[in-house]
Amino acid sequence: MSDFFDLVKQRESCRNYNPDKRPTKEQLVNCIEAAGLAPSACNSQPWSFIVVNDPQKSPEVAHSIQASGINQFTEKCPAFIVICEEPAYLIGRPEPNQKYAQMDIGIATAHLCFAATQQGLSTCIMGAFDSEKLHETLGLPADKNIRLVLAVGYAANDQLRPKRRKAVDEIMTYIG
Ligand SMILES: Cc1cc2nc3c(=O)[nH]c(=O)nc-3n(C[C@H](O)[C@H](O)[C@H](O)COP(=O)(O)O)c2cc1C
Repeated sequence: MSDFFDLVKQRESCRNYNPDKRPTKEQLVNCIEAAGLAPSACNSQPWSFIVVNDPQKSPEVAHSIQASGINQFTEKCPAFIVICEEPAYLIGRPEPNQKYAQMDIGIATAHLCFAATQQGLSTCIMGAFDSEKLHETLGLPADKNIRLVLAVGYAANDQLRPKRRKAVDEIMTYIG
């Protein structure tokens, strides 16, 4: 896929994965490379990524996510990228009310999704997970700040859903 707008239309949250088709390490590394190229406030890059693509560990991660009460679909997802917020060292005098790191994480996550889509993979961003259980599963220190988990794999069904979105004139004020 070469056109950015096609890529944007192709990406959707996948909640039905083919459990028998695992992404390759190379594909996942490409995703992380794209995430690392995301912009961030003062180029602080306040992120780290734990990639889990393992027949034993992935189901354990899925169970930690499901323990939140939702996201049962992760049962069939072969791989996950756990997205962590790291301390941001900002130069100058940043706006005290702005939480730049969370914005930076969001942009990096978009890069992950588009890099996966470009490679024929499907994703679902998940903000609901049992953080304590996930820390335990991955052996992470309590102060590791897990922000999001990305499900990654091949969709069991290629059919895209129609997009349900606000119209451009609802979300845009155009001055000019
Ligand atoms: C920060 C964030 C958290 C989300 N958390 C979940 C989640 O826990 N479970 C889930 O199934 N989808 C989750 N989603 C996916 C949204 O529901 C989805 O992006 C939205 O409905 C638009 O649909 P689309 O991604 O298919 O275009 C999350 C999305 C974002 C950006």
